[in-house]
Amino acid sequence: FSAEVHSLPLKGKHVLITAGPTREELDPVRFFSNASTGKMGYSIASQAVAMGARVTLISGPVSLEAPTGAELIQVESAEQMFERVLQRYDEADIVIKTAAVADYRPKFSSSQKMKKSEGTLVIEMERTPDILKELGRRKRNQILVGFAAETNSVEEYAKRKLQEKNLDFIVANNVSEEGAGFGTDTNIVTIYRRDGEHIELPLLQKKEVADRLLAAVAAVSGSETK
Ligand code: CTP
Ligand code: CA
Repeated sequence: FSAEVHSLPLKGKHVLITAGPTREELDPVRFFSNASTGKMGYSIASQAVAMGARVTLISGPVSLEAPTGAELIQVESAEQMFERVLQRYDEADIVIKTAAVADYRPKFSSSQKMKKSEGTLVIEMERTPDILKELGRRKRNQILVGFAAETNSVEEYAKRKLQEKNLDFIVANNVSEEGAGFGTDTNIVTIYRRDGEHIELPLLQKKEVADRLLAAVAAVSGSETK
């Protein structure tokens, strides 16, 4: 029945979502992280379940309830997120990377709590793996969706990430705008497609942003894999 098809546009699809921040440990009581709260990713996970998808949510540390009906895999560091995402990548039809992955981690971490001393402390940082870029390299027929958090030149940087990471969609987010970005219940995004088209959305609840994004992805997904 066509009504059923439209109410469950992601039926039969495995959607892999990453959400939240990562934590990069310095010592047993300290870490580097960022302001991500996971709301955008958890909203997408709930909406994807409602649209009929099988959902795997790989999440950094957040204080949100697990979305009903999704498999939740909790991780801490970028390295752990990388491993878990790769384990599930081959079986995924759609991958949506909302996670705010730390770009750097301390080069050395201490197994004991560091003691303070006089003067300044210099911490050497090294790069974490770029998970999404690696997924772009290994892409077969998955639909890859990235998020770009920017404070300036939003369109330019977002489109560059779409190209460099071999994505199908990128959701550009001006995190310096009121009502957008980290911690808020709303977001203002523009969704850029690989073919150059874009969908500019107004200020919306994150649930509504999730709905619109998944509808755009489902439209492409249906025709490509079936
Ligand atoms: N991303 C990732 N692994 C990283 C860094 C980012 O998978 N180590 C993903 C994010 O989940 C997001 C996309 O890449 O979907 C863009 O993240 P963003 O931080 O906006 O871009 P970066 O490529 O890290 O570049 P920069 O922070 O310098 O703008
Ligand atoms: Ca980054």
